[in-house]
Amino acid sequence: MAKKKTRSSNRKSWRTAKNSDKHELYELSVQGTESDCIMIDRVFRKRLNRTPHTLREDFSGTGLMSREWVQWRATNSAVGVDLDAKVLRRGREMISSLSVDQRKRIELKKGDVNRVRTKGADVLLALNFSYFVFHTRAQLLDYFTNARKNVKDGGMIFVDAYGGSGSWAVGEEDRSLDGFTYVWHQAKVNPITHHVVNHIHFRFPDGSEIRRAFTYRWRLWTLPEIKEVLIEAGFHRPVVYWEGTERKSGEGNGVFKPSHRGEACEGWIVYIAAEK
Ligand SMILES: C[S@@+](CC[C@H](N)C(=O)[O-])C[C@H]1O[C@@H](n2cnc3c(N)ncnc32)[C@H](O)[C@@H]1O
Repeated sequence: MAKKKTRSSNRKSWRTAKNSDKHELYELSVQGTESDCIMIDRVFRKRLNRTPHTLREDFSGTGLMSREWVQWRATNSAVGVDLDAKVLRRGREMISSLSVDQRKRIELKKGDVNRVRTKGADVLLALNFSYFVFHTRAQLLDYFTNARKNVKDGGMIFVDAYGGSGSWAVGEEDRSLDGFTYVWHQAKVNPITHHVVNHIHFRFPDGSEIRRAFTYRWRLWTLPEIKEVLIEAGFHRPVVYWEGTERKSGEGNGVFKPSHRGEACEGWIVYIAAEK
């Protein structure tokens, strides 16, 4: 899924498969953490009338969002949780570039999101569709139930989701970024089970490639299912935030608003936010 960031210049044409770090390329390709912070602040303040400070980032990967969050406000703190030791190692390296004060306010924990308990956070995040890793309704309910335990009373959960007619097509979609091409490859789509297999490849100007840098075996959940399971897990008022459209280009404008009615477009990404 082509998410959020677009970069156009070809300055870094020195990039090759050999000299590139796939985690850095991932961050550059699919994460838009500044706009995520803006969105979280806006929604949280509007719905709960206060400013969020504590964040738990589930499926944190390298913890880019946690890093952004502690830089966003001097009173913010973040804890990221991920299973993968390699990705966390990379995340810890990146934390060393933060100030001493920021480093005191961030922690990356290794473990299963369902098992790692942390102090109730104002905001719990599961972004870039990571919770699609749960393939059955029972597993999804288990995850949201556990996630709720890690949210403060009067806090919120934010997740995202994707869909649209294009999400049911097998094929590749690419974007040219800083000295490399990001390729989103929908390799398998099963309309009976809603199981999908997606890969991210990175291609370089010298013809080299990091093939299957990341592979995701997901269940493509629908928005009504996600909302229903959030409620079943004890969350209140799950609201879908649908992206507005730029008039000239017909593309998304990056502004997500609470919506009951979406458009049957080829590809969409939404946030869903609910309260504990
Ligand atoms: C799609 S990446 C998300 C990275 C980042 N949060 C983002 O928004 O782009 C999914 C991450 O989830 C982690 N993961 C998968 N299952 C997990 C689980 N049960 N508990 C913790 N982490 C998990 C993987 O190791 C991987 O780093």
